[in-house]
Amino acid sequence: MHDVLCMYYSRTGNTKQVMEEIAQALDAEIVELRDGVPRSGWRGWLRCGMDAMRKSCAPVLPFETQRRLENYSLVILGTPVWAGRCSSIVRSFLQQRGGKLKNVAYVITRGSEDRCEEVYEQMDRYVPNGHRFAGSLRVGSVGHAFWQEEFLRQAREFLEQEQ
Ligand SMILES: Cc1cc2nc3c(=O)[nH]c(=O)nc-3n(C[C@H](O)[C@H](O)[C@H](O)COP(=O)(O)O)c2cc1C
Repeated sequence: MHDVLCMYYSRTGNTKQVMEEIAQALDAEIVELRDGVPRSGWRGWLRCGMDAMRKSCAPVLPFETQRRLENYSLVILGTPVWAGRCSSIVRSFLQQRGGKLKNVAYVITRGSEDRCEEVYEQMDRYVPNGHRFAGSLRVGSVGHAFWQEEFLRQAREFLEQEQ
């Protein structure tokens, strides 16, 4: 197993599906982030949008990883796009622990054709070195498989350089 960690939040399963496939392809550890806030139905949807706009949000629930975050060669962080931002759960994680991430890559999943790449720079505010590479995926779109494979290509290239 590589020392790669995939961490993600997913409300409706798109980011979960993508991150599980990426973790399997890279033989990586995978951890789901949660904040314990109810987010189903239209009330949950509204709450997600409101939370995405806020700068402070509920802390993520405790999670376990096999190593300390700073001891992974690569941490891949997956989030849905909410109102042009990363999900509040991933923002919370970044606020709490982003300073520990040495090498980080982002996977964002989105519903629109807009690639929403400004989200990367928003997330970079919380990590010391910024992101190494990133992918913007729309599950079910024509180009989805291509872009996911392109993300994996970048990941393998990065890991080869790290060895
Ligand atoms: C509150 C809310 C806001 C959203 N805002 C955007 C947006 O600004 N741009 C976009 O492309 N998709 C937006 N979406 C769609 C999600 O990013 C997309 O469906 C994503 O793949 C969901 O991931 P998940 O199934 O892992 O929760 C939004 C979804 C929610 C719930």
